[in-house]
Amino acid sequence: MLLTAMATILFASAIDGVGTQDAPKHLHFYMHDGYTGPKPTAVQIVNGTGQPLKGSSGGARFGDTVVMDDLLTEGPTAASRVVGHAQGFYVTASQGDPAMLLAMNVLLTEGPYDGSSLTVMGRNNIAMKERELAVDGGTGVFRMATGYVLWKTASWRGRNAVLELDAYVYVSPAGAGA
Ligand SMILES: *[C@@H]1O[C@H](CO)[C@@H](O)[C@H](O)[C@H]1NC(C)=O
Repeated sequence: MLLTAMATILFASAIDGVGTQDAPKHLHFYMHDGYTGPKPTAVQIVNGTGQPLKGSSGGARFGDTVVMDDLLTEGPTAASRVVGHAQGFYVTASQGDPAMLLAMNVLLTEGPYDGSSLTVMGRNNIAMKERELAVDGGTGVFRMATGYVLWKTASWRGRNAVLELDAYVYVSPAGAGA
């Protein structure tokens, strides 16, 4: 369904000749942040030495840093079709809310966006039901993209979390026409 939607959107903008400025492309996928198992996709590389985070029961601290190469799937389960990777890191960077600075490249590996990427950066306050992060650019189909990502926790078990991401991406006509 995601791929059909993506193909429809891509076809529509191909008719225009350039990416459309008005209608954002909508991408919807799930991100699997896995600390456990034989091949963890998220690895804590710095144990923060700052104060414990507000509202954290798991001993999270200001300064904790995690690097990730999380799978992106079409549906919420790990068995669902893989559509890409979320590669980046997050740092707990707030002394108040349990908020992280998150920076990642979203590499799409399926469908019309295969090989294109989005660069996402923003503040991820995990105490909020829905967070908003910025799309700061991209490559391929997404060259010079702007936009935003609405970010929710779909489920979690221990530290392992499944995140639901809705990205709304505006592709620059200048980038698409180059
Ligand atoms: C962080 O602390 C945990 C628990 O003490 C330890 O297992 C882990 O190796 C530490 N990680 C780093 C990067 O120092």
